[in-house]
Amino acid sequence: MSKKAFFITTPIYYPSDRLHIGHAYCTTIADAVARYKRLAGYDVFFLTGSDEHGQKIQRKAQENNVTPLAYVDKIVASFQNLWVKLNISNDDFIRTTEKRHYEVVQAIFQKIYDQGDIYKSEYAGWYCTPCETFWLERQLNDGKCPDCGRSVELVKEESYFFRMSKYQDRLLKYIDENPAFIQPVSRRNEMINFIKNGLEDLCVSRTTFDWGIPVPFDTKHVVYVWFDALVNYITAAGYLNDREKFAKYWPADVHLVGKEIVRFHSIIWPVILMALDLPLPNQVYGHGWLVVEGDKMSKSKGNVIDPIGLIEEFGADAIRYYLLREITLGMDGNFSREALITRINADLANDLGNLLHRTLNMIGRFNKGIIEQPGENEAVDEELTKLASETAALYEKLMDNMDINSAIKHVWTLVSRTNKYIDETAPWALAKDPAKKDRLNTVLYNLAETLRIVAILISPFMPTTAPKIWEQLGLTTDFAQATLADAQGWGRLPASTAVAEPQPIFPRIEDKPAEEKAEQVAAADSTVTAKAEEPAIEETPEITIDEFAKMDLRVVKVIAAEKVKKADKLLMLTVDLGTEQRTIVSGIAKHYEPEELVGQNVVMIINLKPAKIRGIVSRGMVLAASCDDKLKVVSVPDMPAGSKVK
Ligand code: MSP
Repeated sequence: MSKKAFFITTPIYYPSDRLHIGHAYCTTIADAVARYKRLAGYDVFFLTGSDEHGQKIQRKAQENNVTPLAYVDKIVASFQNLWVKLNISNDDFIRTTEKRHYEVVQAIFQKIYDQGDIYKSEYAGWYCTPCETFWLERQLNDGKCPDCGRSVELVKEESYFFRMSKYQDRLLKYIDENPAFIQPVSRRNEMINFIKNGLEDLCVSRTTFDWGIPVPFDTKHVVYVWFDALVNYITAAGYLNDREKFAKYWPADVHLVGKEIVRFHSIIWPVILMALDLPLPNQVYGHGWLVVEGDKMSKSKGNVIDPIGLIEEFGADAIRYYLLREITLGMDGNFSREALITRINADLANDLGNLLHRTLNMIGRFNKGIIEQPGENEAVDEELTKLASETAALYEKLMDNMDINSAIKHVWTLVSRTNKYIDETAPWALAKDPAKKDRLNTVLYNLAETLRIVAILISPFMPTTAPKIWEQLGLTTDFAQATLADAQGWGRLPASTAVAEPQPIFPRIEDKPAEEKAEQVAAADSTVTAKAEEPAIEETPEITIDEFAKMDLRVVKVIAAEKVKKADKLLMLTVDLGTEQRTIVSGIAKHYEPEELVGQNVVMIINLKPAKIRGIVSRGMVLAASCDDKLKVVSVPDMPAGSKVK
């Protein structure tokens, strides 16, 4: 049986300048949906491209003293490079300067003209060149473009007009009968009001510049750039050049676009399609805008964020995760470097990274690296397996609704629950008792199996990390062949799988000012381990309350723990102080398994002079009670990180 087709598009971007993080946001959403649909078994066609004609580009080229084509060639190459770096899985990249597109636009223009829906007249009105949009006097906002707020120019020229007005009622009826056509609902209502105000015939040719596709029957005109651009979707789908492909993919399932261009896609584009007697797309989804630290990005403000720099610094998966997790689709969202680092550290390094690390570490140490056959499930195991199955089912529903943000949240609820499951089942304690081997095997299997499911579910968002988890789990099947159904069936991880050495998937990011970093590294080498022989209580000299008050003792949460290589007494801990995270080295490895400490709220002196131990700068010391061979860290389970101890 042939697979069901799914066609998703991004807008084709203007190569007037390099793309910024806002453009990367849109393409990342489309990519996540495309990858999800492939996972769900669809034959996906994912299209992006560049919108290369028009007055704006012609002017930019003139300013740079190059031909428009030479100008766009360079910038389009930078788009393609960005999509490779961001791991975008587009199936095609259309350039409107390509011959395949040129031919389709001319054929369509001719056809609509021949049937009488395009006629010659004169345009007299306003034009916003940055938006490439015609405006009527009454539509302007204080004389400026109502979309971008910039100045408009008065245009008076002979033009061809497209008889949009003729299609007004048909379009309204279509929108009314297809509630999912324009999403989200707020945009739908906006469009209905816009159409009800009356559709004017649209000017679809220009004569005052020549960087465009010539009107076939009157070559002093070039086709209006939006008419040209919208047609890209059917050119690439094979209209007039690949009948079979067109039959398979058209109509498009989703045109994902920014909120300010929903109007072009849900009014002009459907009317062009109606005039061609072609079916309309199933959905136009208008996403919100990404602002930076609360402010609109603009060159003049100097706050334009280059996605390439971010990818080089943090990796594509972290950026993709942030964009998809932080911003609710359809709403405006904020980009902040601080929030990005917090997400990387909290969600990726701590929650996901730790879960993988702890699981593989324990399988390595307690079961010689083998995921053994599980025994009978107990109630706590049932709870976990049930949540895993429910998450995979809910994820499908949410992703089908383009609710990417909620889908990710639910996967992370599963990740957090699984971290808690480790604390509840305490595998390190099970490992000490040979009679509990079966129980240990069950717990370790359940952990690895949950991670297998998580790897599949996160693959549309983090396509590099997901196969890394798969490989570290020791799974030998090709990850590219994994399906959504594989994530929905519990127990598909084969017993006897040998896991790989754990490798960190997301290193924690320390974003401290340079001076602070230097100070830490310069700290003297010393040790924080308790002295072997503690002085007897009666020998301790008296101190004043003021001396005691000099010690800043706080509750901190241990968020990661690992053994320090070649030091059998030392553990490296990452602790959260509520306001910041720190690394400390603690001489308690003989008394605690690293996994046992993760999640515990312990007491730490935080103003102890930093010390460099085995090359690691330790910034604090955890307090522990010791007696003979016994040692226990001072733990205060119910007090939040940052609480003062006095
Ligand atoms: N060329 C037209 C689209 C033609 S589609 C047939 C165009 N190009 S654009 O380069 O100006 O914008 C492309 C997309 O980028 C738009 O959907 C726009 O909303 C989006 N974004 C531009 N800045 C953005 C943000 N700051 N945030 C999110 N998306 C943003 O319009």
